[in-house]
Amino acid sequence: MKSATQSLPYPALRRAIARRLPDGLILLCGGERVARNADTEYDFRQKSDFLYLCGVDEPDCHLLIDPRRGRQTLFMPRIDNEHRVWLGHVPGPAEAKRLYGVPRVAYCDALPKELKRARQGYRKVYADQAALRAHRPVLRGLQPAPGELAEALRELRACKTPGEIALIEKASAATARAHRAVMAAARPGWFEYEAQALFEAECRRAGLPLLAFQTIAASGANSAVLHYHRNDRRMRAGELLLLDSGAECRGYAADITRTFPVSGRFTARQKDVYSIVLQAQKECIAMARPGLVSAELHRHSMRVIAEGLKSLRILRGDADGLVENGAVRLFYPHGLSHMMGLDVHDSPGGKKRMLRNPFKFMLRFVAKLEPGFVVTVEPGLYFIPALINDPRNRRKHRASVDFRRAEGFLDFGGVRIEDDIVITAGGPARDLTDVPKEIRDVEAACGR
Ligand code: GLY
Ligand code: MN
Ligand code: MN
Repeated sequence: MKSATQSLPYPALRRAIARRLPDGLILLCGGERVARNADTEYDFRQKSDFLYLCGVDEPDCHLLIDPRRGRQTLFMPRIDNEHRVWLGHVPGPAEAKRLYGVPRVAYCDALPKELKRARQGYRKVYADQAALRAHRPVLRGLQPAPGELAEALRELRACKTPGEIALIEKASAATARAHRAVMAAARPGWFEYEAQALFEAECRRAGLPLLAFQTIAASGANSAVLHYHRNDRRMRAGELLLLDSGAECRGYAADITRTFPVSGRFTARQKDVYSIVLQAQKECIAMARPGLVSAELHRHSMRVIAEGLKSLRILRGDADGLVENGAVRLFYPHGLSHMMGLDVHDSPGGKKRMLRNPFKFMLRFVAKLEPGFVVTVEPGLYFIPALINDPRNRRKHRASVDFRRAEGFLDFGGVRIEDDIVITAGGPARDLTDVPKEIRDVEAACGR
């Protein structure tokens, strides 16, 4: 079992969830081993809520919180000697108690009996679906409330504590180093997967073997595919490489994108497009502060991109109108920002925090920024054949878009620039991302 969980206030977090849900038993099922085939398994990734409340990074555990009696118990699978032959040392309850600061630790086979005792005096059980399924017989008669448990955890997890931010900073620092290494090494003739391999090796060398999401290493026209994962194309001189990638540190994510020239020098056309995205990103980071609604930041980024597309003579008309009528969405079809934490796309909190989306298109993150929120700022500008060639778009936006001119950029791909920031009280946001992004700095980091 991994140690060093002391920096996070797990006992206080468990008391906090107990205070929010005082009238029921709270039961969480941790992540399970998932078979791949025969006796091989997928890499284990603990469930984020479980990590949040106890930091235990082992499969097949349960956490039981009994708010009335003030009890917190971790249940672990019993590992017999035969398994130790294959798995090596796995701590028993006494060691786990010390490692994780959980006051009581027992084996999972004791859980049904414990539940029978603990349910006395309760009418409700705040359990996730996996726990409800696993313990149906002994929980029968209690009112299951998985939605309320999920909502309470979303609320608690929204604002990050200093200890959580420190872990995100570690993930960000390793991710940044890996990005810089790829910038310095990538060259024409490399396959995209060579950039991916170097990035991921650098994260592992930093002691962070798990990634927060699948690496996107997209060159040339592939950089306009928002979630491109094939990463199997050979890069050519004169193209851009968009690398969107992030390590995780004890579950906490980083999520950084840089777009840089494979040959080390931006072309004039690449500079034009890149500068628009960079301006949108820097202005949005400068504007981010508590009280501002994330959708308004998104609106600002769309306006900057619309102005930029006007300067490229791809869009025409008033920038606000191009935002309202959706023309800019043909070139920037995703959100500016998302919350980040134990999930790379973390929840913006519970229902209380979610505000009405002011736009006609879907936007996942619409909430007032609060101190302790960690969010990404990631505008993009892309030339996507599926949007530019769509006859409905052509009809709807014929007055706003010069499609002939846009077609001239179809081989370009796209640019995205993504940093991770912490919203801070009474001041500008703190940018956690230390990777060059100014044109001259990117070219210097490419070092060719
Ligand atoms: N890496 C996915 C994202 O930027 O949201
Ligand atoms: Mn992101
Ligand atoms: Mn990303």
